[in-house]
Amino acid sequence: FNVPIAVNETVKSYAPGSPERNTVLHAYKEMINNKIDVPLYINGKDIKTGNTRTMSPPHDHQHIVGTYHLAKQIHVKEAISTALEARKTWSQMPWEQRAAIFLRAAELIAGPYRAKINAATMIAQSKTIHQAEIDSACELIDFLRFNVQFMTDIYTEQPESTSDAWNRVEYRPLEGFTYAVTPFNFTAIAGNLPACMALMGNVVVWKPSDSQIYSAKVIMDVFKEAGVPAGVINVIFGDPVMITNTVLESPDFSGLHFTGSTFIFKELWKQIGNNIHNYKTYPRIVGETGGKDFIIAHKSANPKQVATAISRGAFEFQGQKCSAASRAYIPESLWEDVKNYVIEDVNSFKMGSPEDMSNFITAVIHEGSFDKLAKYIDQAEADSDADIVVGGGYNKSKGYFIEPTVIVTSNPKYATMCTELFGPVITIYVYKDEDYSETLKLVDETSEYALTGAILSRDRYAIVEATNILQNSAGNFYINDKPTGAVVGQQPFGGARASGTNDKAGSAQNLLRWVSPRLIKETF
Ligand code: ALA
Repeated sequence: FNVPIAVNETVKSYAPGSPERNTVLHAYKEMINNKIDVPLYINGKDIKTGNTRTMSPPHDHQHIVGTYHLAKQIHVKEAISTALEARKTWSQMPWEQRAAIFLRAAELIAGPYRAKINAATMIAQSKTIHQAEIDSACELIDFLRFNVQFMTDIYTEQPESTSDAWNRVEYRPLEGFTYAVTPFNFTAIAGNLPACMALMGNVVVWKPSDSQIYSAKVIMDVFKEAGVPAGVINVIFGDPVMITNTVLESPDFSGLHFTGSTFIFKELWKQIGNNIHNYKTYPRIVGETGGKDFIIAHKSANPKQVATAISRGAFEFQGQKCSAASRAYIPESLWEDVKNYVIEDVNSFKMGSPEDMSNFITAVIHEGSFDKLAKYIDQAEADSDADIVVGGGYNKSKGYFIEPTVIVTSNPKYATMCTELFGPVITIYVYKDEDYSETLKLVDETSEYALTGAILSRDRYAIVEATNILQNSAGNFYINDKPTGAVVGQQPFGGARASGTNDKAGSAQNLLRWVSPRLIKETF
């Protein structure tokens, strides 16, 4: 299996005056000032249903950047039948030909589409250019490149044979069609979920998040130009309940690839269970959902390093990463220093529109998210067992801006120590140095989710203890680092407990869920 060696795409710096900065700014201005009309995409055709909704950037919610068309049930049914028709040829296509299409998609994003996909992500999801570059360019390129390598790892896994009996495994695509439900927060995840299923020979109905339509449209343009044939990936927008009901009621539904909220994932799982007697196969269910990701510092840790882990882990990407640190446990002896360094960091973060490239933090995704965060901040102001250390301001007059906010609490089970907020708010509990082991147990007991976590310590025994006690509290566990920033090909990503099925994004293990192996024994 001679495939191009996957390498991580280099992150561009967008330094002031650099050509890449000018190119992306130009694309941003052109795209934000010219309205776009986004159709559904079914069987290789743009479908305009006439029933539309407007799109606005979260940092400027009165400005309309375009419209998108909403599906009726007939369109969802058409997407399904079209996918099943396309499966007849796509599933028979030699794997190298499928791989070549997605490798070409990676190179299109690395080159001619880079500015466009970054600008779309800046507009739709209010990311800074640096956030967009890491997500919609580099991580998506990495997923597409590394998936091809993981695919060949799978295909080379073959059983023993003897001279008179040849055993071989054929990694067939799932029988039927698959369903991708993708989130707003990563353009890379939105692209990867349908792409990795299609790469393995499956056909897909894809429902992107309503808050990510613009970048989903660019992803589909890339897939189209790269040569994904008509019907292989079909894009549907609209009423999520109607779409999901229609998809999950089909007897040919064979797999769900989901990233989003824990609640919705559990609801879909239940619905699949209710329909189980109608399906031709047992559907595969893969989901990455919520998190309440932690940082714990031991008294031996370097306070500056702890502060950086907090301010970067909690506030980069407006805290809208499923991996973002949202609770921290700091020993009393370090707290003064950690607090001062965090305040210094937070005060240096500029907040505003992505158009000003010196901004570090921008708006949160929508009004619902803004209101939820503001409510918890107000509550912390009012509660006697919580205080705001820095931040706490918010303003939605133009965009949904929430200041990076640090809450400190004397109650380790305080609401914001346990509830997922999905925004730039972290809550800190200060523990007595001698209670380190107790605190580790507390972290585990309060980990309803188990996505990411970090231990900062210069004492190896303390690291070992944390690694053991927190064995099931995080699917991605970081030692002396922030709990975010997994890189495809280096840190496969995913969590257990309420955080998902832990079928690591960016791994052969994930791709294996999208095939149904057939063993063939041939006797001579
Ligand atoms: N993969 C992203 C991270 O690790 C979510 O931060």
